Amino acid sequence: MRSALVVGTGLVGTSAALALSERGVAVHLRDVDPVAVRTAASLGAGTVDGSADVVDLAIIAVPPALVGRVLADIQAEGVARHYTDVASVKAGPQQDVVALECDTVHYVGGHPMAGAERNGPLAARADLFEGRTWVLTPTPDAETETLNTALELVALCGAMPVLMGAAAHDRAVGLVSHTPHVVASLVAMRLEQAEERAVSLAGPGIRDLTRIAASDPQLWVDILSANAGVVADILEELAADLDNAVAGLRAMASTDDAKRSGGAQIVESMLRRGNTGRARIPGKHDGRPARYEAVAVLIGDQPGELAKLFTDADRAGINVEDVRLEHSTGQLAGLVYLSVAQGAAVGLEETLRARGWRLR
Ligand SMILES: NC(=O)c1ccc[n+]([C@@H]2O[C@H](COP(=O)([O-])OP(=O)(O)OC[C@H]3O[C@@H](n4cnc5c(N)ncnc54)[C@H](O)[C@@H]3O)[C@@H](O)[C@H]2O)c1
Repeated sequence: MRSALVVGTGLVGTSAALALSERGVAVHLRDVDPVAVRTAASLGAGTVDGSADVVDLAIIAVPPALVGRVLADIQAEGVARHYTDVASVKAGPQQDVVALECDTVHYVGGHPMAGAERNGPLAARADLFEGRTWVLTPTPDAETETLNTALELVALCGAMPVLMGAAAHDRAVGLVSHTPHVVASLVAMRLEQAEERAVSLAGPGIRDLTRIAASDPQLWVDILSANAGVVADILEELAADLDNAVAGLRAMASTDDAKRSGGAQIVESMLRRGNTGRARIPGKHDGRPARYEAVAVLIGDQPGELAKLFTDADRAGINVEDVRLEHSTGQLAGLVYLSVAQGAAVGLEETLRARGWRLR
């Protein structure tokens, strides 16, 4: 790929443009907002589009509801040999593309699975997509060369391509991102009217479960509205599971032994299936489920504690695969969970104890 046009120089468009520019691609930039396009250009993402040349790839990075319209317009102009987009949902834009009779032979939909809390070009980073997956949703009529050009974009951005259909993509993001968000908010909502003393007992479990419930509601209304039907379907299935959980728990609360044991079986089966689902979440290196052991270390809340801990872990010659920090409510102390490869925890524990650390 020698040249590209990015339409929509917000967070995602500017990030892709920065990555391509760094790798020597000549990038042209367009946006309806002149400030956004000038800002992106001043960051080194490319040049404000003024060229009449046909580029190799046009990347449409505008809100999902506008993808079809923008594609139809720029294809009518003939600005590029191949076209793609980066919208977070795929079925709606794809329907628009067909309804507007766009050229689907030279277009492949896409969705980089990376983002940031903020929008706009100032939040963009050349390495935003580094190591992330990037879904491509080619239709059967898409030309191989178009798919290859989209694959080249993914590679130039340091991401890993995953090919799937538009509907399968929307169901997948509904399952792993959108529905968990709603559930986290619903669980957090239970705390809204809870007594102060009850909330003060909150520990890491509820903190982990509700972390994403702290996001910007307006942003999430936009995200959910683009995939609302899919999320509603998944929530309906979840509601049936909730009914089952309630029935199991009611039976467990009964005075009848047989009912109690039947209820416990329902609840245990639900918890086991949760274990199985959780174990399928990919690990950091190979996309396979992670199998780590955790070492829990108590640390004081003072400068340099974490650096000292990592230096001591390094002395044990053990690679720390992941880290989680848990603060103790109202105390100047915390617990650090160091995840290490299976079988490595014992050696790490010995070294840390020998160096004076208190382990849990
Ligand atoms: N933000 C994320 O975390 C994330 C992650 C992956 C994919 N996406 C997708 O990327 C796309 C862009 O999102 P973003 O976060 O970069 O948003 P953004 O608000 O930062 O940028 C969107 C840009 O598109 C411009 N624009 C709007 N209509 C236009 C038009 N008709 N022609 C030209 N420019 C136009 C806006 O002026 C704005 O600068 C969306 O489709 C979104 O679903 C977002």
